[in-house]
Amino acid sequence: MGEDPLPGFGTRAVHSGGGHETPAGDFRPSVFPIYAASAFYYPTQADLDAVFAGEKPGFVYTRNANPTVAALERAVADLEGGSAAVAFGSGMAAVHAALLALELGPGDRLLVARDLYGATRDLLLTFFAPMGVGVRFADLTDLENAEGLLAADRPKGLFFEAVTNPVLRVLDVPALTGLGHKYGAKVVVDATFTTPYLYRPLAAGVDLVVHSATKYLAGHGDVMGGVVVTGPDLEPALRTTLRLVGSVLGPFEAWLILRGIRTLHLRLERHCTNAARVADWLATHPKISRVYYPGRSDHPDHAVARKLFGSHFGGMVAFELKNGTRDRTMRFIDGLRLCRPAPTLGDIFTEVLYPPISSHRYLGPEERKRLGITDGLVRMSVGIEDPEDIIADLEQALANA
Ligand SMILES: Cc1ncc(COP(=O)(O)O)c(C=O)c1O
Repeated sequence: MGEDPLPGFGTRAVHSGGGHETPAGDFRPSVFPIYAASAFYYPTQADLDAVFAGEKPGFVYTRNANPTVAALERAVADLEGGSAAVAFGSGMAAVHAALLALELGPGDRLLVARDLYGATRDLLLTFFAPMGVGVRFADLTDLENAEGLLAADRPKGLFFEAVTNPVLRVLDVPALTGLGHKYGAKVVVDATFTTPYLYRPLAAGVDLVVHSATKYLAGHGDVMGGVVVTGPDLEPALRTTLRLVGSVLGPFEAWLILRGIRTLHLRLERHCTNAARVADWLATHPKISRVYYPGRSDHPDHAVARKLFGSHFGGMVAFELKNGTRDRTMRFIDGLRLCRPAPTLGDIFTEVLYPPISSHRYLGPEERKRLGITDGLVRMSVGIEDPEDIIADLEQALANA
């Protein structure tokens, strides 16, 4: 007899890690409760000893594990198709833990995509490079280039974002994973922009999938968190980092993220259709010189995006103002009334960011230019409002820019 087929993604988003998994009693809460306790105790010391030893299920101390955080971990593992997920206090803490799980030491090498979230790049250069890890940044959209570097360096790890920030390059996750493994590297993918609704990197063989849960997973702009999803081999290393570094997610934050996940599929559906519509409208505007959206056929990675995502291309759009000087672009952003000029993404409301003064502020002008970050570039996380209202806001701000 075959196995029961998995319920659909939406059903799992609504139910995974949910109330039916709370302890049995005369009644059960309809949603998983917040266990706001730093420690848990048992009738006898022998019971406690057995839980500490892992011989009996349970929780002892929230820095090690907490029931509400564990419910979130179950939900994310289920949606990603991983056997384990470990939650952290922020996306950066999750990136850090995933890198530590590679057990990098002096002389080891790491191959990293050149287009990378600024803080991840800083983390590598501030902590890992001085430790003697050879960190090489490269253009991984060029698979030949990637293979050449993997063959030459034999790095211990390959790290990239499935969709990059801010010009939304789409990396060929299955091809890069195959190459990484061929040359002995463990593969880490930051899937914050895509979420398991768009794409599940573990199915392509990726070893560690990282999310800033602050973004789409939580989705409401009210919480910070991070999650790493993996298989059984690397879970212990992640748990050790949690326990020893202490970069834990609080139970209330876990509950909020879990609550956000319940509507992930609905939100993402709307983010995607709104973003496609906004991108197409921007492309027709005389004051816009370029639009970056992986769903458009003029995007350099449209074919890879189609292969990976099918018919949904995410909620992120970037665009360039014609003759977009710094002053003019900042004036345009200041003129927006509905879209929020917030340095984040993935929330229900539309958010606009100016990379040269925020996410990519610390790069020199030359490096920014190399990454396609001009003074006229604007990054937009398209929300789930009525698309006509987002477009009307852009129109009035462009009229005055
Ligand atoms: C792709 C990506 N990864 C990681 C992070 C870090 O997440 P957090 O801000 O939750 O620490 C961010 C934050 O913007 C991000 O965009």
